[in-house]
Amino acid sequence: IDQHALQNAERTATDLRRRFEQVWEALARVGDGGAAGYHRFAWTPVDLALRGWFEEQAARRGMTYERDRNGNQWAWWGPPGPGAVVTGSHLDSVPGGGAFDGPLGVVSAFLAVDELRERGVTPARPLAVVNFTDEEGARFGVACVGSRLLTGVLSPADARELRDADGVTLAEAMRAAGADPGALGRDEEALARIGAFVELHIEQGRGLADLDAPVGVASAIWPHGRWRCTFHGEANHAGTTRLADRHDPMLPFASTVLAARDSAERLGALATFGKVRLDPNGTNAIPSRVDAWLDGRAPDAETVRAMVAEITAAARTAAAGHGVRVEVVAESTTPVVRFGDELRDRIVAVLGGVPALPTGAGHDAGILSASVPSAMIFVRNPTGVSHSPAEHAGVDDCVAGVAALASVLEQLACR
Ligand code: GLV
Ligand code: MN
Ligand code: MN
Ligand code: MN
Repeated sequence: IDQHALQNAERTATDLRRRFEQVWEALARVGDGGAAGYHRFAWTPVDLALRGWFEEQAARRGMTYERDRNGNQWAWWGPPGPGAVVTGSHLDSVPGGGAFDGPLGVVSAFLAVDELRERGVTPARPLAVVNFTDEEGARFGVACVGSRLLTGVLSPADARELRDADGVTLAEAMRAAGADPGALGRDEEALARIGAFVELHIEQGRGLADLDAPVGVASAIWPHGRWRCTFHGEANHAGTTRLADRHDPMLPFASTVLAARDSAERLGALATFGKVRLDPNGTNAIPSRVDAWLDGRAPDAETVRAMVAEITAAARTAAAGHGVRVEVVAESTTPVVRFGDELRDRIVAVLGGVPALPTGAGHDAGILSASVPSAMIFVRNPTGVSHSPAEHAGVDDCVAGVAALASVLEQLACR
């Protein structure tokens, strides 16, 4: 055994761990909701604080900072230009989210830059760190808004009119945050700059834990979508309206939730009602209206389609039985992503044969993959819990992720 090399490797690991913890803790404080989790929504004051953190990280490293037309943030090592190797993720969260989904990829990206500099690597092409805007769609309902606008799969006119729960449009929210919604849209120049995109992300299941592997790569993302189901009933008094006289939208909604579970189980898919809005939302009033959002996912698009058709049919039948009217509207759909073999094989080779896993979670890398070569590196999640304050990855695995990302960037940017 080469004692010197061993000591060197140990010193690097300790060093990386210390640097990781430093950067991580500063970011983790932004918008920390404690046991309630993070509520880091696009264009809110917390988002602006996160954006400030990103700018500061860029400045500390002497990287060139830019915000693109769609609000995505970029930090460049070397002059911004075409064919760059790009890495990063997002800083926003779901309601009650964890610290890792998104931020781990951005922190790892900056630390990978540090690691490359430490290794004395000089990239032969530009290298950039990116923070994509509004990946979760927690505020305006559509996920991956920054990458969808950048690649043109979301029209700027539609984006500007998206509304949050208070009726504030995305355009108004951007203006209030000092950003210009007039410039939104497909950005050829920004796209041409991306030679390859590699997003590091905490795994959102137990795939790597089951395989006892600290890191892996993504093979595919299941097709998925969001559908709004609105049940129109009739508000009335809870104490005086006979059961037979009611048009209670809650009842067909409840049947629809059970039908969705049944359909998903039979078809090998996933269906979730995670967001509901009641009008008028009073204890002693029969609701006039229920808006509920269905999140549907499956290994293939045909299964998603079949499941949503079944759930829609069940909703119609249940609604008719209660004198309630129902509409089901697709708010966003995302096709299946199969990450390209070429980039993935290169990454797997650099990392010495790590596992490749499919996922049911959507990512900006999935949106970008339709336009530029894209890949993902997953870091082990010991419990598989995500979109929850309990989401967690061990620091040793996070550091392994940074080292893996640095090696991948070195290989992509130098050869
Ligand atoms: C994003 O995290 C999603 O897949 O919902
Ligand atoms: Mn997420
Ligand atoms: Mn994410
Ligand atoms: Mn996501």
